[in-house]
Amino acid sequence: MNVSRSDKPRLLLTRRIPEPGYSLAHEVFTVTGGDEDRPLAREFLLQGISGVDALICLLTETVDGPVMDAAGGRLRVISNMAVGFDNIDVAAATARGILVTNTPGVLTDATADLAWALILGAARRVVEGDRLVREGLFEQWGPFLLLGRAVAGATLGIVGMGRIGQAVARRAVGFDMRVLYTRLHGPLSADEIPAGARWEYCPGLDELLSEADVVSLHVPLDSRTRHLIGARELGLMKPGSLLVNTSRGPVVDEAALVDALKAGRPGGAGLDVYEEEPRLAPGLAGLENVVLLPHLGSATVETRGRMAVMAVENASAAVRGEAAPHVVNPEALSRMMST
Ligand code: GLV
Repeated sequence: MNVSRSDKPRLLLTRRIPEPGYSLAHEVFTVTGGDEDRPLAREFLLQGISGVDALICLLTETVDGPVMDAAGGRLRVISNMAVGFDNIDVAAATARGILVTNTPGVLTDATADLAWALILGAARRVVEGDRLVREGLFEQWGPFLLLGRAVAGATLGIVGMGRIGQAVARRAVGFDMRVLYTRLHGPLSADEIPAGARWEYCPGLDELLSEADVVSLHVPLDSRTRHLIGARELGLMKPGSLLVNTSRGPVVDEAALVDALKAGRPGGAGLDVYEEEPRLAPGLAGLENVVLLPHLGSATVETRGRMAVMAVENASAAVRGEAAPHVVNPEALSRMMST
């Protein structure tokens, strides 16, 4: 694009984003911020947003009505470099005629792979084994040493059979697993189910929790899914079963999970996300039967690069009045027209 510096729209970048998105942002926009790889403190967000046309943010920043108002009326788009957008008050953006965009699709495989890393890591006690070897405690092979749980042939429960849930389920075909799934929009059609897959729609979450050997969560966080998995739901899980969460921490009542893991129901967990990131619920880090990762779902070089480019492309299309590819609140457009 041949745009002179003065004609370029203005962008606030809250934090450094990976290449090639970072360079693209500078090509398209006059950019403020984004030099450092750390979350932008709220006071700087409130200052920096003043007078910009676009905001590119990450899930480490809370973007609410007061932040939008601090922009001063020019702000056209809030482009989140993430598929989840629970850090943004979408209703407040819509009411102000501001588009909100996200980065779906490009992180589906990376997140599904990580869910599988947690399934296998928790089922086969990979982290405990690694610790034991490093600590010099591996004396010899033993018939009872770190026995885990079989994954092949087990039943996998997918809570939220969207893009990522389906990608996790596709990987289960190779493990010869039966898959039970819940889905907000009802059962998938036959042509959406891969050949050879045993995917069964579960109308109720309770049924899935009580039948699955591994439960993997793939719902977005909103008012319907906050604490979707609490003490009652954990109590329905089979003794020895596993809970994996690569979605958002608050989908699980983490304090209840600590109690449940202590009681062995579920028998283990693999977590990539936490209720109050980066803090952990008291007692969680002391449990042996849980694998803990620092929110790495989309953390591959390839995926993060694609997310950054997509975030810039979304912002760029929106400020030029073109159809931004991944708008989560298209109703903001009619609001924009009427103001
Ligand atoms: C990561 O958690 C994302 O929502 O992209």
